[in-house]
Amino acid sequence: MYILLIGAPGAGKGTQAKKLSQLLALRHIASGDLFHTAFEEQTELGLKAQRYVDLGELVPDEITIPMVMRHIEEPENIQGVILDGFPRTFEQSQALDAELSRIKRQVDLAIHLKVSREELLARLAGRIFCQANQHVYHIKFRPPKVADRCDLDGSKLYQRPDDAGEAMRRRLVIYFNQTVQLLDYYRQQHKLREVDGNSSIDQVQAILLSVINDSTGRVAKV
Ligand code: AP5
Ligand code: MG
Repeated sequence: MYILLIGAPGAGKGTQAKKLSQLLALRHIASGDLFHTAFEEQTELGLKAQRYVDLGELVPDEITIPMVMRHIEEPENIQGVILDGFPRTFEQSQALDAELSRIKRQVDLAIHLKVSREELLARLAGRIFCQANQHVYHIKFRPPKVADRCDLDGSKLYQRPDDAGEAMRRRLVIYFNQTVQLLDYYRQQHKLREVDGNSSIDQVQAILLSVINDSTGRVAKV
């Protein structure tokens, strides 16, 4: 089963995809996280991508598409994946369709996680990550037990540089001007489901599970 999570920066794609991947036993592939790992490891791809990410711009398709396709092709992903943050351009959607068709698969469901602009700004402004493993918290909505420390591994928490200032604004502009156009592509194929992502993490998760169950017949419970 191949499920896409489409939503603005801060919509909760990563938060929800992590939980869903455990409940549905599907791997979670997040293009933003792959870039982050590449920066940490100082790979050639990481060095090329970082200047775009720092500015809040999309990384060019010729870098992004092969990176994600390599992960989709991994044998452990043959049962399907939850894709978070990919595709974001028409070219990416075409590359994904071509690759899935090559392995006799297809996108089953594209879920649009809809969140108001006000809520997005609040989520981005308060988001903090742990240095060791990128566990995600929010100073108000999901605070760590000890301020500045990850509950799971004790490492220090930090704010992502592109969650503030011009880079954050640029990410929102690109999403609302460009990525939202993909919604029509999946709507025309009757694969799009709209989910209100404004409520609490647990409430959104319950809605997502019921949408996935209804649309695919796959049963997973919280
Ligand atoms: P990426 O890392 O994918 O960033 P994004 O799409 O902007 O999305 P975010 O990760 O910011 O938000 P999210 O929806 O995952 O929210 P989260 O769950 O963390 O991409 C970064 C960059 O990489 C891009 O700018 C681009 O440069 C590049 N890139 C990535 N993919 C690319 C592609 N395909 N093509 C080209 N370039 C690409 O939640 C946010 C916060 O809210 C957290 O603190 C969380 O705790 C909290 N929260 C979540 N849900 C709720 C809730 N229901 N109630 C209250 N708080 C909540
Ligand atoms: Mg994310």
